[in-house]
Amino acid sequence: MIGRSLVLALALSGATATIAHAQPLSPFASAKATTLLRDKYGCLGCHRLGRDGGQLAPTLHDVRTRRDAAYIAAIIRNPQQRRPGAAMPRIRMPETDRTLITRLLGGDGAARDGTAPTTPAPADTNGAALYRTWCAGCHGITGRGDGPNAKALPVPPARHADAATMSQRPDDTLYDTIDGGGAIMNRSARMPAFGGSLSPTQIRALVAHIRSLCRCAGPAWSRDGAR
Ligand code: HEC
Ligand code: HEC
Repeated sequence: MIGRSLVLALALSGATATIAHAQPLSPFASAKATTLLRDKYGCLGCHRLGRDGGQLAPTLHDVRTRRDAAYIAAIIRNPQQRRPGAAMPRIRMPETDRTLITRLLGGDGAARDGTAPTTPAPADTNGAALYRTWCAGCHGITGRGDGPNAKALPVPPARHADAATMSQRPDDTLYDTIDGGGAIMNRSARMPAFGGSLSPTQIRALVAHIRSLCRCAGPAWSRDGAR
């Protein structure tokens, strides 16, 4: 425990050059990077940083003790390419933000894997299967908001099986939340953005799956010209 809190203290204070990783960030840059990954990009929906965050993925405060700088940079840039099959979506963000977050965690901010971010998403277009892989950890297999990670979140995951709530949501709203994540919809950033890894067809399959879980449709006004 002491070891871990020390690593955390170092990571959070920006004095991150202990191991042969990237240049340390200034305290200001560290604080900014921490805010970005916590409040904007939803990394803490799945990962824990110190005491905060989810339990679907390895802890981030000490990732530098397990992975080298190039690995850390590569998985943040393009998870599916670095680790095929990993249930981590590629989070779209400006290069400057990606560099900051990467360096906070001990990655090499300058690293490039040379590929455009166009790795084909997993080809599956079965809504139920996609939901099990990507969503059930928080929302629960049957959409009751009771996935194993639900208790580790500051805001309860939406209950997709709840017809009263879901019938108030147009399909477009569901689509946009899945595509762009909670933060852009003024909801909790712990709802990750999946549009960097899932195709429009896959996102539509997920919206249809949510409709089958709630056995409901969106509001009547929203149903014309559904995507
Ligand atoms: C939907 C859940 C999810 C989200 C959101 C997510 N990750 Fe991950 N991440 C994972 C999983 C699962 C793994 C483990 C992959 C594996 O090794 O199989 C992982 C692995 C990692 C690793 C390597 C950890 C290790 O010990 O091998 C880093 C670094 C990382 N993620 C950073 C981030 C950052 C930064 C963000 C936000 C921009 C983020 N992740 C968002 C699920 C997620
Ligand atoms: C790391 C946990 C986590 C994962 C994984 C996750 N979600 Fe969420 N999701 C949340 C949380 C938390 C909320 C509630 C946000 C709020 O109300 O502020 C939410 C909200 C939503 C909403 C908004 C519902 C509404 O009331 O408008 C939709 C739609 C949604 N999630 C779909 C999905 C889908 C589809 C997946 C899988 C591709 C998924 N989520 C994966 C945590 C997660």
